[in-house]
Amino acid sequence: MLEGRRVVVGIGGGIAAFKAVTLVRELQRRGAEVRVVMTAAGARFIGPVSLAGLTGKPAVVDLWDPSYAGEVHVELGAWADAVVVAPATMNLLARAANGHADDVVLATLACARGALLFAPAMHERMWGRAATRRNVAALAADGARFVGPVEGALANGEVGAGRMAEPEEIADAVEGLFASPDLRGRRLVVSAGPTHEDLDPVRFLGNRSTGRMGFAIAEAAAARGAEVVLVAGPVTLATPRGVERVDVRSAREMEAAIQAAVARADAVVMAAAVADYRPAERTAQKRKKSDGPLTLELVRNPDILAGLGASRQGARPVLVGFALETERVVEHARAKLERKQVDLVVANHASDGFGGADNLVTLVDAAGDEPLPRASKRTIADRILDRIVDRLRD
Ligand code: CTP
Repeated sequence: MLEGRRVVVGIGGGIAAFKAVTLVRELQRRGAEVRVVMTAAGARFIGPVSLAGLTGKPAVVDLWDPSYAGEVHVELGAWADAVVVAPATMNLLARAANGHADDVVLATLACARGALLFAPAMHERMWGRAATRRNVAALAADGARFVGPVEGALANGEVGAGRMAEPEEIADAVEGLFASPDLRGRRLVVSAGPTHEDLDPVRFLGNRSTGRMGFAIAEAAAARGAEVVLVAGPVTLATPRGVERVDVRSAREMEAAIQAAVARADAVVMAAAVADYRPAERTAQKRKKSDGPLTLELVRNPDILAGLGASRQGARPVLVGFALETERVVEHARAKLERKQVDLVVANHASDGFGGADNLVTLVDAAGDEPLPRASKRTIADRILDRIVDRLRD
């Protein structure tokens, strides 16, 4: 949450500027007080009047407007706990990286006392340009943070890595700016995504996990200062900043990767949807059909989490599991807590978690059940990490 935080949103000149309205709303919903500054190009994509209406303050476009008494960039730069530029165009990044200050967004960045966050949006080729790479690296070296861009449909209908992150995700990143480094010096192993159990060179058994919950946990843990190893099944998500990623396919590969990473771990979070069974045989050649029905023989996969629970000596690493259920959710979760000898189980209903940005979960541990309000996966990730921090303190 962002109660009591003051955030300046700087809107650059890109088509994604229309999402800035939702971003302002989302920041306000989380408790932030928001002011808006815009480049002249930004104001060609979205009207300052809309943003003034939302914030109750003028959305400043022109540094030279005589109706702004005093120096608006100096005042806002001092006022803001964070300045978020969304969308940040190629041009705006270039000018910010080089210390230009000749419009109200750049001047506010130049005067900012608080944290800086950029949400870039541009065509994939512009994002990949050597000049943009240099400018992003320079801004990051100066302490600025970035969220996105993400893979998706670009303005012209092409698909590429240049789309601005969604407002929810940007708001999460703003929260991340204020995160306390309470996991500094801690090492976390997080698993995420499905596993694919191969039948032959072209077919597999899998499940619908997207990996978003586990990636959110890895990202949040890194933002809180942890050293994070993310063991990821086959997913299409970008690696969160500052996270070491190990890609795996099957449950057995995942187990091996986790065993390799767990030695010095303070906590292990198993957010992966690990397949309980695999085909008894993976044929070297593609299986050919016949006219009759097909019976597949499946054998059990190792239960990675139960294995960690059984082999643990003492209270480290802290073990967190997930329970995705379709009925009697908390009851099943509590059974897993005991059977797998873990510290916390995050219970959710299959209809609440898959695929979306939000999740509805109950935290189940020896002390009781805590149902959390529906929230973004990032917010839930932080609540899970709060529990881990508590355990590590004990
Ligand atoms: N898990 C694991 N290894 C497996 C299966 C599950 O480590 N082979 C972990 C998951 O990552 C999750 C927890 O155990 O943290 C519970 O997973 P879930 O599939 O809900 O439970 P299962 O133990 O498979 O029980 P069931 O399928 O009978 O509900």
